[in-house]
Amino acid sequence: MTKLQQVITETELAEAVKEKYLLKFGSENPEEIRVFRSPGRINLIGEHTDYNNGFVLPASVDKAVYFVISPRADDRVILYASDLDETYSFSLSDLSKPEQSWPHYQIGIVEQIHKKGLKIGGFQAAFGGNVPVGAGLSSSAALECCLLFALNELFELKLDRLTIVKMAQKAENEYVGVQCGIMDQFASAFGKNESVIRLDCRSLEYEYFPFPMDDYLIVLCDTMVKHSLASSEYNTRRLECEKGTQILQKYDSSILSLRDTNPEFVELHREELGDVVYRRCKFITEEIRRVQDACNLLIDGDLPAFGNKMYETHQGLQHEYEVSCPELDFLVQQTIRNEAVLGSRMMGGGFGGCTINLVKKEAVPSFEIEMKKAYLDQYQIDLPCYKVKITDGTEEIRIVG
Ligand code: GLA
Repeated sequence: MTKLQQVITETELAEAVKEKYLLKFGSENPEEIRVFRSPGRINLIGEHTDYNNGFVLPASVDKAVYFVISPRADDRVILYASDLDETYSFSLSDLSKPEQSWPHYQIGIVEQIHKKGLKIGGFQAAFGGNVPVGAGLSSSAALECCLLFALNELFELKLDRLTIVKMAQKAENEYVGVQCGIMDQFASAFGKNESVIRLDCRSLEYEYFPFPMDDYLIVLCDTMVKHSLASSEYNTRRLECEKGTQILQKYDSSILSLRDTNPEFVELHREELGDVVYRRCKFITEEIRRVQDACNLLIDGDLPAFGNKMYETHQGLQHEYEVSCPELDFLVQQTIRNEAVLGSRMMGGGFGGCTINLVKKEAVPSFEIEMKKAYLDQYQIDLPCYKVKITDGTEEIRIVG
């Protein structure tokens, strides 16, 4: 797809959401209606390292959430989920949690604005987009960043991008109740066209690296499964990492997170850590190192070696961190003898969602056919494959006309 075609597709999506907004709310005060976009994210390498203060290497992609929004004269918020054709409305003075879950992200954002002591008025919005939900592309972070970015502009809150990211993460932690790290929100808000972001989750310093997409494409294979273990196991992994940190800290008080230590030190204290915590700490310290090595390989233009690192990550996530599942392992396994695939691994929190694959451009059509056939034979599931392009992060969109 050329850049121009991609822009047209994204504009069309935004226009479709705007049309739904107009059908729902009418076209009064057209000059006050604004449109915002916030993308889903991929992560090339650096999994479960964000909440251990390590490095990650995400990018924002051409699958995004769109908000069409305008202010209201009263204190009501009316949200229209255009893909679900559902509406939820609340008053700014009552942020109680509704039973249906999709408004939690938006109410969580309003709550963060209140907690910061900032004032906003009521607003009405239609939202929708093409980030697959539950596929591990962080549609929730895209939603949170999009709304907060929009409210920041609408009500002139003067929040900078990093503050928006931190507040969006807090909304997820405190209102939605998922103890996620900062990667997803950061990637959605700070994404840059054709670049990956190396983010140091301890200092929040970041650097963009151009990601060459001339010869290889990024293809996501969506298992279509989301095991119910996902959020409870995620929180358990966090606790196991904290436990490991506490034990290692006894021997070196400068260790405040697993970022502050290394695989050698973990090995030294293997017995005291115990089998499970040892394997968690081993994976995380190795993965943090792997991201740095992978970035150097990217700078050298050595994509085959970069791809091998992705396979190493999968091995660790499968056997040591234990957040994979048979469907993900199956998909990664299928690629191993395919010379057109440089790297493949599960992506995101785990227990379902997508694998991320680095595939030679001309081999992508046959790759998709083979993967779909294998998955159908094994699981009787039609495997969605998404070719993704790396695009800019959260932004306002001007629709002409
Ligand atoms: C989820 C979380 C992120 C990160 C990844 C694993 O996507 O939201 O913060 O921890 O899992 O790398």
